[in-house]
Amino acid sequence: MIAIGCDHGGFELKNHIERHLKDRGIDFKDFGTFDEASCDYPDIAKKVCESIVSSEADKGILVCGTGIGMSIAANKVKGIRAAHVTDVYSAKMTKMHNNANIICLGGRVTGFELAFMIVDAWLDTEFAGGRHQTRIDKISDLER
Ligand code: RB5
Repeated sequence: MIAIGCDHGGFELKNHIERHLKDRGIDFKDFGTFDEASCDYPDIAKKVCESIVSSEADKGILVCGTGIGMSIAANKVKGIRAAHVTDVYSAKMTKMHNNANIICLGGRVTGFELAFMIVDAWLDTEFAGGRHQTRIDKISDLER
C-alpha cells in the first residue's frame, strides 16, 4: 500500500496522482491535506512517514509546492529514504540504487503527465541490492 500526502501546494497534483494510481489498480491511503487551505507540510510528511515506519504502508508519495520541503521533513524520520524527483531517470535510479521508500514531487514544478511517468518509473523499478545495500546500511548507520 502507498501512503500519499500533500500540502496546499501539492493538492492538485496529488489528486491527479491518485487518479493515476486508481487507473493502475494500485492501493493507496490518503493522509491529506484534503483542500487548498494553507497547511504545514511537515505535519503531512510526519503522517506518511509514520505509516511507512509502522509498516502500514510500504512506500509513500509526498507532494508540496516544490517537493523540497516534504523531502527535507521526511528525511528526518529514521528509516525514511525520501527522494525529491523531477525527472524519470532519477525516479528509476532512486529505486534501483537508493531503494527510496518515498518520492517527493513539486506540484508547482512538475506537470501531471511527467509526474505519472516519474511515479511509474519508481514503482516499476526493482532495487538492485548488492553494493547498493551496503551503502544504504551506511546511511542507516548515520541515523544511530
Ligand atoms: C508552501 O507555500 C510551500 O512552501 C510548500 O508547498 C513547499 O514548496 C515547501 O517546500
